[in-house]
Amino acid sequence: IRGVDATISAFAAGGPVLIHDATDREGEVDLVYPAAPVVPADVARMRNDAGGLVCVALSDAICEAWALPFKQELLDHPAGADHELGYDERSSFSITVNHRDTFTGITDEDRALTISELGAAAGRIAREHVVAGDGASEAIATDAERFAEQFRAPGHVHLLRGAPDLLDDRAGHTELGLALAEAAGVEPAVVVCEMLDDETGGALTPTAARAYADRHGFPYVEGSELIARLG
Ligand code: 5RP
Ligand code: CA
Ligand code: ZN
Ligand code: ZN
Repeated sequence: IRGVDATISAFAAGGPVLIHDATDREGEVDLVYPAAPVVPADVARMRNDAGGLVCVALSDAICEAWALPFKQELLDHPAGADHELGYDERSSFSITVNHRDTFTGITDEDRALTISELGAAAGRIAREHVVAGDGASEAIATDAERFAEQFRAPGHVHLLRGAPDLLDDRAGHTELGLALAEAAGVEPAVVVCEMLDDETGGALTPTAARAYADRHGFPYVEGSELIARLG
């Protein structure tokens, strides 16, 4: 499946979709789902078929509401002084979390619970915000306590904080996924996982990722296509 419209429809229906950022950036293809409907089989697909890091990207507004900072701001260690990434200005890493009803936090069931509850909770905040009639630029009331009632840190799901103006600010999978969520009308919480090649250990090539997408009937989209439409 190809094309931005088909990708938006598939994402609205729960995904997954495959997104390649750009050859001159990470050059990675992530498997991406809306967070709320994620079930254990989806986590199994991410670790078996994708194999990268399972992360949940949350919009800047949701992170502001839950007082979730960038991880780098919390690190009181010289290793955190400079990101020095070869492909971007900064990473989007925030903290790691587990839902409080998980045991170890790493099993498919535990991670699916953490991911889906992050999605559901982000959806509730986004809806309250809309119902309150606030403009998009208005801040949502901060409620870190409300987040802490449901989630503990550190945990086994990496949170990513989206740039405030999404694709106008940054063109990572974090923002590509969140822009897709906005276009699909789903909650501003998406789970992403890099696809790695089991043979080489490197990033799965776009050609191999397209073949995987075709075998499974999933959409494959280029970051540039999403930027052209949604940026
Ligand atoms: C976290 C990452 C991934 O590449 C993920 O796609 C988020 O990063 P970015 O927004 O920079 O693409 O490194 O596993
Ligand atoms: Ca594998
Ligand atoms: Zn990425
Ligand atoms: Zn990456």
